[in-house]
Amino acid sequence: MSSNQNTILFRNGWLADVERGQLIRGELLVAGERIAAIAPCLPCSDALVIDLADAILSPGFIDVHTHLREPGFEYKETIASGARAAAAGGFTTIACMPNTKPPLDTAERVAWVKEQAKATSVVKVLPIGAISLEQAGHRATNFWQLRDSGAVAFSDDGRGVKSSRLMLEALEASRCLGVPIMAHEEDAELAGKGSINHGPISAQLGDQGIPSAAEYIMLARDIYLAEMTGGHLHVCHVSAAESVNLIRNAKARGVKVTAEVTPHHLHLTESIVPTLLGQAKVNPPLRSEADQQALLAGLLDGTIDVIATDHAPHSMWEKEVSLSQAAFGFSGLEVAFPVVMEALVHSGLLPLEKVLPALTCRPADLLGLPQGRLAVGAPADLVVLDPRKRWRVTAEGLLSQGKNTPYLGQELVGQVLLTVVDGRVVFDIRE
Ligand code: DOR
Repeated sequence: MSSNQNTILFRNGWLADVERGQLIRGELLVAGERIAAIAPCLPCSDALVIDLADAILSPGFIDVHTHLREPGFEYKETIASGARAAAAGGFTTIACMPNTKPPLDTAERVAWVKEQAKATSVVKVLPIGAISLEQAGHRATNFWQLRDSGAVAFSDDGRGVKSSRLMLEALEASRCLGVPIMAHEEDAELAGKGSINHGPISAQLGDQGIPSAAEYIMLARDIYLAEMTGGHLHVCHVSAAESVNLIRNAKARGVKVTAEVTPHHLHLTESIVPTLLGQAKVNPPLRSEADQQALLAGLLDGTIDVIATDHAPHSMWEKEVSLSQAAFGFSGLEVAFPVVMEALVHSGLLPLEKVLPALTCRPADLLGLPQGRLAVGAPADLVVLDPRKRWRVTAEGLLSQGKNTPYLGQELVGQVLLTVVDGRVVFDIRE
């Protein structure tokens, strides 16, 4: 029987109902770019049948915080290579940060990323516009124009917004435009020249250390500004226990604040720094076990809304240098799923079906996207997951140009088998 490549029938597996946090036995039919039917049993007609063999079919993951390095740093990553890495990691939509060269601070530059992504990317790429011109922290960008050319949020990620006045303006624009301000909370003067968390390990290694206060002092200001303006503050890569407390209290007061945590902050602590040095250097830094416990608790009680990778690809020569010289950041898209599995599921904290919303429908809601759920009529953005499959992270195996992950050489549990974007298979582990 010939199969119609425009229709795919997934059988013999578990469907992730991410809104209810359940796995349901059932079948799902894709027709063209959309999900056409979901039922316990569907006729196969002439569809291409994919036997899930008890694997899990989930909405494709949505990453609200990815660094693609184009334009300007193509030697670290291009939109095309970052998108291939996203597909391999199960991500079907990624929002990319504006700290490129030049930064995405004009409507033309935002539009250029969209065009380039259309031409070269296998996943959906949503640009995030800069808060300040040149990301210099002085003058605001034209939020209205940036939004009209496709920016889904605004951020100066990579550095904090020092000027309270500028942050106020950004949050006022957020209220008018209905898009989030994604805040990198870092008081640069407090962070100083530190490379890792401030504490006994930084003292032992002779590093000045980045105190948690560098994060939560600016966060406290931004929460007040969000409260004043009614704007939507989204807190990037929360790393400190006190930040979780501030966000929890702000939410209880009704402030419009959401937050993300990275897989690496959920799974790793500063204890790996003395062995991995530059390969363990990330901003915000890996922190203490107490901080990590607070992040896990914050995710469990809903204080933290989403898991985001902060995929920050760098070349090896920028990482395999001294701690102080190494670039901040981890390549994160391809290891996100197994690392989240290790931190939350294999550790016994949460079943997988309760973790998936933080990677699917909640980031979709954050950015107001129609994807992120298995629903008839929704875009057929899907991922097939084997939560028990073991695999080894190797430089050759990663599709990202950034091989800078602290997991290099390690065996992880949990693998992405297949990724589908708008009904098209964009990653298949069997190939
Ligand atoms: O570690 C990081 N790397 N943190 C950031 O905020 C920026 C990122 C990058 O662009 O490399």
